[in-house]
Amino acid sequence: MTIRISGTGGALPDKILTNSELEKTVDTSDAWIRERTGIGARHIAQNETVASLAAEACRKALSDAGRNAEDVELILVASTSSEMLLPCIACQVQSETGAVNAAAFDINAACAGFLFALQTANAYIASGIYRNALVVGAEVLSRIVDWKDRSTCVLFGDGAGAVFAEACDEEGMGIRAMLQGSDGRRGVVLQCRAGHYTETDHELFPYKDPFIHMDGSEVYKFAVRTIPECIEQVLEQAGLKACDIDLYILHQANIRIIGSIAKRLGVDEDRFPHNLEHVGNTSSAAIPLLLDELNKSGKIKRGAKLVLSGFGAGLTYGACVMRW
Ligand code: UT7
Repeated sequence: MTIRISGTGGALPDKILTNSELEKTVDTSDAWIRERTGIGARHIAQNETVASLAAEACRKALSDAGRNAEDVELILVASTSSEMLLPCIACQVQSETGAVNAAAFDINAACAGFLFALQTANAYIASGIYRNALVVGAEVLSRIVDWKDRSTCVLFGDGAGAVFAEACDEEGMGIRAMLQGSDGRRGVVLQCRAGHYTETDHELFPYKDPFIHMDGSEVYKFAVRTIPECIEQVLEQAGLKACDIDLYILHQANIRIIGSIAKRLGVDEDRFPHNLEHVGNTSSAAIPLLLDELNKSGKIKRGAKLVLSGFGAGLTYGACVMRW
């Protein structure tokens, strides 16, 4: 028993912040941001919250799958930027969508969070505990970005993506292989202190403000070394070669990272779709948002072989191979 994705949904805040607008508030340029990252604009939440974006994405995923909220048995929300510590985002989504029969909880594995949540759903469904799940990545990173720090504020955006995943016993279809990993020893390279802490200081935690701090080049090196190896391992588990895959749906952090991973795998960059030009890095929402764009525009055909892979704070990483 495995799972397949039978519906996708996405939600983006109305407000768009372009690189040119950022030029007016920090010492940066549209040219630098595009050349070094590939990002042109990002959406910024104003009235939207992590939960409202997640709920909108879930409603669309349910509609795409042709299912009712009451059918949902599990809601998993991956996020790092909830406005609320309690209740968890997944319970807020349950309340907003009317998925009254579901168990609901959150997962924090930063930009790899959606893949961790998908693997958790897979484990629950494969073991027979539940038959389906809404799996969501949702972020309002603009709340935890230091808008005076040009090394991070130009990168991130807000949004949510959701999938409806259900049990699949069709031979060869659905998730074929999954892998996830973490290297907590290197967590210092990407940190954000919780807003409610005031005093505790620690050598592993040098920042006093509740904003994202990142050693970008360390995360970059981690991604381009770890992700090709991780993808090669899941391909081997699935009995496939890199050239067999139709689309690689990667975490949308930096177009140069995506290009480097393509090169290391020896696969043409055409098979690595991206949307970071208009949404930026939306952390755990990046993979499901891109998946939704591709699904809704008919770019993923039934039977297509896909690799999903992400990496981020923790450090965390993961990949999966699926047949659509
Ligand atoms: O989502 C998972 C977590 N995040 C990531 O995956 C991000 C991974 N890292 C990256 O994508 C890249 O490392 C960055 C885009 C963050 C930075 O690109 P880079 O090519 O590694 O640039 P850099 O940090 O080495 O900085 C190069 C120069 C520096 O100036 P000097 O020291 O050479 O004079 C920076 O101060 O670019 C400067 N710089 C900027 N200039 C204009 C840094 N940010 C900006 C900026 N605008 N926004």
